Amino acid sequence: MSNSDARKKPDIRLLFEPKTVAVIGASAQPGKIGYSICRNIKEGGYQGKLYPVNPKGGTIFGEKVFTSVADIPGEIDVASVTVPANLAFEAVKACADKGVKHIQVITSGFAEIGEADLENEMVQYAIDRGCRVLGPNIFGLFSASARFNSTFSAGTIPSGAVGILTQSGALGIAMIGKCALENIGLSAIVSMGNKADIDEADCLEYLIQQDLTKAILLYIEGIKGGDRFLQTLRAATKVKPVVVLKSGRSKRGAMAAASHTGSLAGTDEICDAILRQCGALRAETLQDAFNWCKCLKDAPLPKGERCVIVTNGGGVGVMATDACEKYGVELYDDQKVLAQAFDEATPDFGSTKNPVDITGAAGAKDYDLALAAPAKCPTMDSAIALYCETAVFNADNLVEMVRGTYKTYQAAGKPITYALVGGKTVAQAAEVLKEEQIPVYTEVYDAVSNMGALYTRYRMAQLRDDKIDEARIDLGAIEKTIDAVLADGRSFLLANEGQAVMRAAGVTIPGAKIAKSADECAKAAEAIGFPVVMKVVSRDILHKSDAGGVVLNLKSAGEVREAYERIMNNCRAYKKDAVIDGIEVVEMVKPGVDLIVGARKDGQMGPIIMVGMGGIYVEVMKDVAFRSANLSRGEAQRMLQSIRCYPMLAGARGQKPKDTASVVDHIIKLATIIKRVPRITDIEINPVVVYEQGCKAVDVRILIKK
Ligand code: COA
Repeated sequence: MSNSDARKKPDIRLLFEPKTVAVIGASAQPGKIGYSICRNIKEGGYQGKLYPVNPKGGTIFGEKVFTSVADIPGEIDVASVTVPANLAFEAVKACADKGVKHIQVITSGFAEIGEADLENEMVQYAIDRGCRVLGPNIFGLFSASARFNSTFSAGTIPSGAVGILTQSGALGIAMIGKCALENIGLSAIVSMGNKADIDEADCLEYLIQQDLTKAILLYIEGIKGGDRFLQTLRAATKVKPVVVLKSGRSKRGAMAAASHTGSLAGTDEICDAILRQCGALRAETLQDAFNWCKCLKDAPLPKGERCVIVTNGGGVGVMATDACEKYGVELYDDQKVLAQAFDEATPDFGSTKNPVDITGAAGAKDYDLALAAPAKCPTMDSAIALYCETAVFNADNLVEMVRGTYKTYQAAGKPITYALVGGKTVAQAAEVLKEEQIPVYTEVYDAVSNMGALYTRYRMAQLRDDKIDEARIDLGAIEKTIDAVLADGRSFLLANEGQAVMRAAGVTIPGAKIAKSADECAKAAEAIGFPVVMKVVSRDILHKSDAGGVVLNLKSAGEVREAYERIMNNCRAYKKDAVIDGIEVVEMVKPGVDLIVGARKDGQMGPIIMVGMGGIYVEVMKDVAFRSANLSRGEAQRMLQSIRCYPMLAGARGQKPKDTASVVDHIIKLATIIKRVPRITDIEINPVVVYEQGCKAVDVRILIKK
């Protein structure tokens, strides 16, 4: 048994709330990272004990400097390593031998520059001795609950309610600055670096239960250990909003392109779908990510889909309407109720239609009156208030109007966002209001984007479904088939082997039999039912149709006998010495709606599942949807409904609806296979022909790990 098996991992809480901290490479020289980290720990208000370590000894920030970590008395919860890469392994060894619980390796020069072996060796040494490692290649960690700032950032970090985990160090440091600028306080910020040991899932586990954190922002480039990350993300979004900025757009080549499931979408599209499935909100820009966190951390979620825009300018009203479509905000449309609610606040030349235009003549009192209506009205759930600078509205009253109406909405438990568009006075008013944490923006699209984020979270909560459904499959039979394939030295399954896996999963496949004479063929066809297709079975004839080895649509025993002779003659003429093992008699599948259902083990996301429009045009149409294979029947149904060709299943143009429940069964069956059979990497049925009752899996392709 290795040490790592024998030792329990230290509690991640100690990384964020340490009682004792050592800095290995602590320096008295301003400008050095080992200096900045000591300064930030001391000046950030940390109440625990700091132990600087430097072979030179002396004192740093009034603390005695130890010449070696081994000399420090008592336990150390966190050690920050700030010595150059050639000394870092020795420093990590000393920490691990001392029994330090968490080691933050600030030092760069490991996997990110191709030194992965050195990194693995160093980190494994620590793990084997029961330590956990953050980094290497990080700027450190800040945790508001312990007032513990072990970063080397220049300024102080404002405490607050947003927890940030960032894979990029430079962006992380920039985010600290931006947070101060945007008046966003942090509950924690962690630089994840190379994620050699501690990853986002570990830190999320801490942030989920940490009371200060009201919203979480993740910046990720790649995902390690997809399955665990996604499970933790799902658990996090259940209790707190999580906004994800994921960069690194798709590299198609990164996906094993051996199957459609691999090549039909880039990793990014898969990632997008799965993040949504986990309840995370994916932001495209840093600004959106910050705005959303700020808004989501304390705005009430809407209780329904009916949003009202109140504006004093038609143009911004139209812009906001466009933005509502983009960000998925639905506008309330009951003209009668709108007319009644806004009659008093709207002049004759205005409009009570949504967007409600109280016109450029509106003053603060008119806004108060108009915005009071959605706050009061039980059939209105949220409001977007737009203000365009006008000569009649004294901008000095703007701050008071926004403060007052915002209070009304808070009391009503309804969300409101504001866009204030204009010159210097308006911008200054917006700044004052932003500092008060009121969701005020100077861009119409930003105000709507934030309302859109609230609605996305609202809908995710409505649809939240943490159930994972699995199908009953005969795992033993599947494993036996794979053993035989591997014994034959192959990493792909032949048609009959794929069919055997399908049978073991209870998937209906077309009836088929291999026969060796005209009489046997006729008997097989009668047993299967007419019409049938006949295909030559010969490893010497790869292109069966070219050899005249395939005959379709045979409707009687007579036609079957005649086709047998024809195929045998054709094939002998095509290749005189071909060994013919027999003729396969296959049920001729009736037409229905052709779908593709696939599953694969994704390098980043873990097991994933795909459904889409099938047949020969899959690559052209690219009408597919992806999910993590950990899904419920309900989620599988929603996934199916999200593809463009779904109306063909639902019964478009007077057709009877198709058996979508059976498609859902197939999705769950493939999800179960990909999760439960470790050696299967890709599995794909194309087409699955869907009927009014049931489906048939016509062509199956399965790849395995050699
Ligand atoms: N134990 C403790 N301290 C030691 C030591 C040891 N075994 N060996 C050397 N030191 C001391 C040095 O004497 C020095 O202290 P001094 O200023 O009193 O002389 C201190 O450790 C730092 O060593 P130094 O050689 O001066 O390194 P540095 O400060 O120039 O650089 C790093 C060290 C870690 C900052 C640098 O190697 C690095 O990786 N920089 C990039 C960090 C980064 O960007 N991370 C990612 C951010 S996103």
